[in-house]
Amino acid sequence: MLTLSALLVLCAASCVFCGPFHASCSVVWNSNGNCDYFHTKIVNQIKAWNGTSGCANGGEKCRYSLVSQSRYQINATHKNANTHYKDDLNFNFFQISYSCSIKGYSTSENPNLVLDNGTNYCNLYNLITGAGLELKESVSDPTCTQFSIADCSKY
Ligand SMILES: *[C@@H]1O[C@H](CO)[C@@H](O)[C@H](O)[C@H]1NC(C)=O
Ligand SMILES: *[C@@H]1O[C@H](CO)[C@@H](O)[C@H](O)[C@H]1NC(C)=O
Ligand SMILES: *[C@@H]1O[C@H](CO)[C@@H](O)[C@H](O)[C@H]1NC(C)=O
Repeated sequence: MLTLSALLVLCAASCVFCGPFHASCSVVWNSNGNCDYFHTKIVNQIKAWNGTSGCANGGEKCRYSLVSQSRYQINATHKNANTHYKDDLNFNFFQISYSCSIKGYSTSENPNLVLDNGTNYCNLYNLITGAGLELKESVSDPTCTQFSIADCSKY
């Protein structure tokens, strides 16, 4: 019989559980500048990718919806082009003198999804790069499902 610690070692080795227990992703971005500017750029990108045309050649740069926004927050959804699962995402903005810190979070509405091929990371990353923003990014597998294998041109 496997002891609990042996099981934990096995889990760590196979890396199935080195991410969140439910498919989701937290990312922090930092940059000099005004949060209002980054907020506007991200909202515009969500609107630009509202339809399906952004995915005409594959990928996931489409089907975003703006749900609500305030000066320091954006709530949105992204519908997966293939599986049609919906993910909920939000951005929170923190102005710290001349710097802006942006906390992004994405989580799948499918309660049973554990592995997502980095989809929840890409939901956020694609918006940031699509908007042309070059920010200092902090992210890692324990708080972002399958970040290290994410292929955001596909997911
Ligand atoms: C985007 O599309 C959805 C329907 O797919 C719609 O409900 C939503 O209001 C649209 N507009 C924005 C700005 O997100
Ligand atoms: C974003 O969603 C959260 C959770 O549902 C909610 O508490 C918050 O008020 C929303 N923000 C805005 C600006 O509506
Ligand atoms: C992840 O990728 C694998 C291999 O490409 C695929 O079989 C699987 O359905 C994908 N899972 C999700 C949730 O996208």
